[in-house]
Amino acid sequence: MPLISGRYSILSTACIHLLLLFFVAEYAESGMIVQTLPGFSGVLPFKLETGYVTVNESELFYLFVESQGKPKQDPLLVYLIGGPGCSALNGFFFQTGPLLLNTSDYSGGLPQLFYNEYTWTKTSSIIFLDAPVGSGYSYATSSQGYYTSDTESMAQTHVFLRKANHQEYVENQFFIASDSYSGVITPILALAIIDGNEAGLQPTVNLQGILSRSPHTNSSLEANSKIPLAYSLALISRSLYESAKNSCNENYVDVDSSNAECLRILKKSKSGDHDLVVPYIYSRLDRVSKSKRRLCLETLVRSWYTVRNEYNGFRLTFATLKGAGHSPTQYKPLECYNMFERWIHYYPL
Ligand SMILES: *[C@@H]1O[C@H](CO)[C@@H](O)[C@H](O)[C@H]1NC(C)=O
Ligand SMILES: *[C@@H]1O[C@H](CO)[C@@H](O)[C@H](O)[C@H]1NC(C)=O
Ligand SMILES: *[C@@H]1O[C@H](CO)[C@@H](O)[C@H](O)[C@H]1NC(C)=O
Repeated sequence: MPLISGRYSILSTACIHLLLLFFVAEYAESGMIVQTLPGFSGVLPFKLETGYVTVNESELFYLFVESQGKPKQDPLLVYLIGGPGCSALNGFFFQTGPLLLNTSDYSGGLPQLFYNEYTWTKTSSIIFLDAPVGSGYSYATSSQGYYTSDTESMAQTHVFLRKANHQEYVENQFFIASDSYSGVITPILALAIIDGNEAGLQPTVNLQGILSRSPHTNSSLEANSKIPLAYSLALISRSLYESAKNSCNENYVDVDSSNAECLRILKKSKSGDHDLVVPYIYSRLDRVSKSKRRLCLETLVRSWYTVRNEYNGFRLTFATLKGAGHSPTQYKPLECYNMFERWIHYYPL
């Protein structure tokens, strides 16, 4: 069913309370155009549609924002937030979406909203999706419908994309953008889309690339990168790093409890490229897994330091944003927007 309904069902009240979005369930699979929101004065300066798409026993909730640039030509993105289980509202209000909450002098009550001048929707259309089922406003119609996994969530998102991809956008370039935990889902979703297209699933999803921001990939490899990253950021001294390396045999995760020297040194060293949640050292180009290299992966994470790699004709870009922490879109919105705008329109970073 269409992401953008041909018949715009504009609510007569013209005002939808965010908390009442639950009741959109009644209009499953027919999106509603939201023109105003409490906390924002006047009509929203962008086209916002919300709705549900049914996938088996799951009702998947989305917010769709049409590009404020050239919607007919600009790419369409699905934005998958991390967690797992964070609401799409996190992406919408805190990362790349068009509205921000005014937190200055906040003293309770309905928060005031204001326009985010660095929203990625200035130059692309974005679907913010509540996945896996159970996160945000997405729900299951049976209790067993709530049991899910990375693979299952990926499969549901895949079905969602084919159902939600409206005629109007079917020819636009399509990208999967994700952050944090959804780094796990992104490459397998991309492969499922490519395989589905080859198998003739309709409508074709015009997938051009994926963008993984601070992507989670492998917990143990990530955890093991924290010590080298802390050293490269000069958070720990060279001598401490060298002793940790030697005593722990470069394994800082499953340390043998009898290795007292390693444990002692690790205790001493606990103290974006300043992201120790998903250390970029592990995400680095030379460590990117083979399956990801099969895809056009351009990792957006830099102070305009970019590595390009040609592999099977695909372009791979790795970039880090200095001092941005785990959530660069939140802490460095201007830099992220500029980087995104160039990347998505095929300009050099
Ligand atoms: C946020 O709220 C404060 C206090 O009410 C107000 O002074 C300020 O102008 C608001 N900021 C924006 C960007 O709307
Ligand atoms: C939907 O249900 C069918 C039948 O049980 C199953 O084969 C299929 O894998 C399910 N699809 C998804 C995306 O979960
Ligand atoms: C993570 O990496 C380790 C070390 O290479 C490997 O043994 C393990 O299977 C990986 N885990 C996953 C979930 O891929």
